[in-house]
Amino acid sequence: MTTEPPAHAAFVAFTLAAGTDRRALGRMMRLLSDDAARLTRGEPALGDTDATLAALPARLTVTFGFGPGLYRAAGLEDRRPPSVADLPVFRIDRLERRWSGGDLLVQICADDPMTVTHTQRMLIKDARPFATVRWVQRGFRNTPGVQPAAFTQRNVLGQLDGTANPRGAEMDTAVWTPEGGTTLVVRRIRAEIETWDLLSTVDKEAAVGRRLTTGAPLTGQQEHDEPDFAALDPAGLPVMPDFAHVTRARVTDPRLKILRRPYNYDDPPNAAGHPDSGLIFASYQADITRQFLPIQRRLAEKDLLNQWITPIGSAVFAVPPGCAADGWIGDRLLG
Ligand code: HEM
Repeated sequence: MTTEPPAHAAFVAFTLAAGTDRRALGRMMRLLSDDAARLTRGEPALGDTDATLAALPARLTVTFGFGPGLYRAAGLEDRRPPSVADLPVFRIDRLERRWSGGDLLVQICADDPMTVTHTQRMLIKDARPFATVRWVQRGFRNTPGVQPAAFTQRNVLGQLDGTANPRGAEMDTAVWTPEGGTTLVVRRIRAEIETWDLLSTVDKEAAVGRRLTTGAPLTGQQEHDEPDFAALDPAGLPVMPDFAHVTRARVTDPRLKILRRPYNYDDPPNAAGHPDSGLIFASYQADITRQFLPIQRRLAEKDLLNQWITPIGSAVFAVPPGCAADGWIGDRLLG
């Protein structure tokens, strides 16, 4: 999560089968952790049906998330981080069940889509005795390696996305819990690209508060210049519009920042050729209630961008800390 995000991702959410209790969850997590460890090393999973497809790990990472339902199934409600609970409904939401909720999340990221596909197949196969697939969201970002070393990805709306993320030491306070875990919010947000594309560049930039070409704030020259929210134009109006996405989302206290690591999605268009595109918005933070919710509330209340984005899916997970070489993910909770 602290590395440059790989270019391709599959977010796979499961619903636990009836009777999958704490012991069964332990068996499942032992298996899935072992699969993930082998595949990230470029070795086939145990019982791999096509070992050749495991040979190219392509910076594979596998991240597990425990939804509220997993703690219930394990009889460990008291161990659920309190902020890992269904989010309130926001007035901008048009949530669909087929993209929402989940007891277990497996997030698979790699620079090669074949690696993602193979890993997804192996992990779903091994989870099958314990859980059914609830939803799968496949996404992509700009591929590292096709651009200079450090770059910010562009999303399907053409914006540089990720500029103001916490960095370096800020990550420790913003992202990690004292136990070494984190929490993850996944929101599927449809982009209304066709109406967005009717806007002029000036209007697109005003909606966010940053330039499309450079990502610089409207008050600056370079991508990482600090926005000046007090600056006024000759007419006396704020240069950074009050309701621009960045103005509304801004957080300065490093303990309250969130790490955004979204992937784009682009599903087949409908028969009339209208796109089905948007963001698999994924944010990591130590505490959803303290960090994510106030930002989301401000954005739901007022954000110029809302006219062109619609949340259609939502899920929350606790990401358990990593494990010792001879351990498995979740062993401190389920073992
Ligand atoms: C499709 C949906 C969204 C799009 C297209 C989008 C796009 C952007 C863009 C272009 C920026 C400016 C560059 C940057 O710092 O990354 C930005 C900043 C930001 N966005 Fe979003 N965003 C979306 C949803 C969200 C959501 C759901 C949240 C949180 C609830 C959020 C929180 C933030 C924050 C915290 C910043 C940084 C603000 C600052 O400068 O301090 N965004 N977003």
